[in-house]
Amino acid sequence: MPLFDVYPLYDVTPVSGKGIHIYDDKGAEYLDLYGGHAVISIGHAHPNYIKAVTEQVNALGFYSNAIQNPLQQELASKLEQLSGCDGYQLFLVNSGAEANENALKMASFKTRKKRVVAFKKGFHGRTSAAVAATDNPNIVAPINAQQDVTILELNDIDAVKTELERDDVCAVIVEFIQGVGGLDQGTAEFFEQVDALCKANNTMFIADEVQSGYGRSGKFFAFQYYNVTPDIISIAKGMGNGFPIGGILIHPNIEAQYGMLGTTFGGNHLACAAGLSVLNTIESENLLENVNEVGTYFVEKAKDIPQIKKIKGRGLMLGLEFDFEVGALRKELIYNHKVFTGGAANKKLLRILPPLNIEKVHVDEFFDILNVALKKITETVK
Ligand SMILES: Cc1ncc(COP(=O)(O)O)c(C=O)c1O
Repeated sequence: MPLFDVYPLYDVTPVSGKGIHIYDDKGAEYLDLYGGHAVISIGHAHPNYIKAVTEQVNALGFYSNAIQNPLQQELASKLEQLSGCDGYQLFLVNSGAEANENALKMASFKTRKKRVVAFKKGFHGRTSAAVAATDNPNIVAPINAQQDVTILELNDIDAVKTELERDDVCAVIVEFIQGVGGLDQGTAEFFEQVDALCKANNTMFIADEVQSGYGRSGKFFAFQYYNVTPDIISIAKGMGNGFPIGGILIHPNIEAQYGMLGTTFGGNHLACAAGLSVLNTIESENLLENVNEVGTYFVEKAKDIPQIKKIKGRGLMLGLEFDFEVGALRKELIYNHKVFTGGAANKKLLRILPPLNIEKVHVDEFFDILNVALKKITETVK
């Protein structure tokens, strides 16, 4: 049976990983500045992660949400402590799209309204309401398009005000640092006014932290750079260091009712063990400090490269914008220099999403390679 052919693939077959590196089936070593799409947070094959997952799978891998699972509460308490999101409640799912789908659903339950406001170049996942709130018509099927979504320009506060005052908007969903779109950010003034407008109009403010959360921005959550209080925060990616797990943090003002949300796999024992080992490692290895230190170092080095026209993002969620499309550069980096980087909807942007324990030596190595690769690409273009 052939695989459904939806992914254009690089011709590389990783078979193992360690820290910042992955190794292919021929034994070649790659520097991973992509983290499998911002997923690898504490590094490949981290010993804490291996131990936690191995012990848990040997004990009990799964049972349904009909029984007591103290690992869920342990995960929720650690998350509350490290994120500073005091009093929020946790609902566990399996992916980023599922987190946003449940976030939007919660917003609609709470407000009894159904229109969603989202923003240009935003990405929120592939499921029904999440994909409808994503600014990419190519991935919105007719069945998704029946969702009631209005997509506005980031930073257009007057448009947000007009829409919210119509009193039919259940949620405003935003990425505080856009991922797939290309690392653009709204202004502090914009985010803070959106927060106030949501509070004034009985609209839930959803922070999509699927990519920017879990320390990647240099704070636990990217919204914490601003004076805002999201009603719902969605998380996934870095949460499980590769184990599929996601969740929503729900403000104490929103009350749970039995049966309101549910899932078979969400919050299973193995996922919780993986998730706990990630949080414990973020804490014990001071990874937020490392993100800030190495992220700042990375940006300083990027400033010395004349071909880089703009540096976007925060922490270790960075975008290097060139004045040419980076497809050929990414291929040169991966095939001839064994470095993984990411692309974005903005074709001129190279996305940098390394494991959060990357060191300065890896950054030096990357910039040495980038200089060589850029020389070759520029010569080819000439
Ligand atoms: C900001 C954001 N939200 C949601 C998603 C969807 O997550 P998943 O692919 O786990 O469904 C992504 C994935 O790239 C994302 O970047």
